[in-house]
Amino acid sequence: MNIILLGAPGAGKGTQAKILVEGRGMIQLSTGDMLRAARTSGTEMGKRVAAIMDAGQLVTDQIVIGLIAEQIDAHPEGGFIFDGFPRTLAQADALEDLLAAKGQRLDAVIELSVDDEALVQRIVKRAAEAQAAGLPVRSDDNPEVFAGRLREYYKKTAPLTGYYHAKRRLTVIDGMLPVDAVTAAVAAVLNG
Ligand code: AP5
Repeated sequence: MNIILLGAPGAGKGTQAKILVEGRGMIQLSTGDMLRAARTSGTEMGKRVAAIMDAGQLVTDQIVIGLIAEQIDAHPEGGFIFDGFPRTLAQADALEDLLAAKGQRLDAVIELSVDDEALVQRIVKRAAEAQAAGLPVRSDDNPEVFAGRLREYYKKTAPLTGYYHAKRRLTVIDGMLPVDAVTAAVAAVLNG
């Protein structure tokens, strides 16, 4: 089974993806995590990526599609949770082609719907908790950068809701619910 977790920054995609990895042995493909790994590598590509992420903007389609293509090639058995990918219509089209080339398909697209105010509160809390624990705070969790991430989401990623609705693959879940309740709602979709 291959699924997409859609949703604004801070909607809970990563939280639910990790629960699915533990519970179902699925493979989490988080382009955010891949890009953070690239930026710490110090390569030229990593430096370009860091500047874009720190500005709250989207990295080019070419880079993220390349990262996802490598992972799909490496795991022909599938079982993917796409977390933070696709984020543009071009990425969505590319994903269809990449999966089809491996004889795979998308089984479900789950959107976690969360109010903007709650998103901001979650990100502020996440940054405060990381700081209190002496852990690194994500540079793009800075409130100004986060506002830019939200703008990018509404401009470039929100249209994917219509894209997948038209393909009859979309289920919208109330992401404002507590984590356990969201997990149960996700499981209900996956169990059909
Ligand atoms: P990425 O790392 O993908 O970040 P994001 O999607 O902006 O969102 P987050 O990881 O912040 O949130 P999440 O939805 O995973 O929520 P989480 O579970 O962490 O991308 C970062 C950047 O990389 C982008 O801005 C862009 O520059 C670049 N990028 C990445 N992918 C790209 C692509 N495809 N194309 C181009 N550029 C790309 O939860 C957030 C917090 O809320 C946590 O503290 C959590 O504990 C809490 N929480 C979770 N669920 C709940 C709940 N139900 N109730 C209360 N709190 C909750």
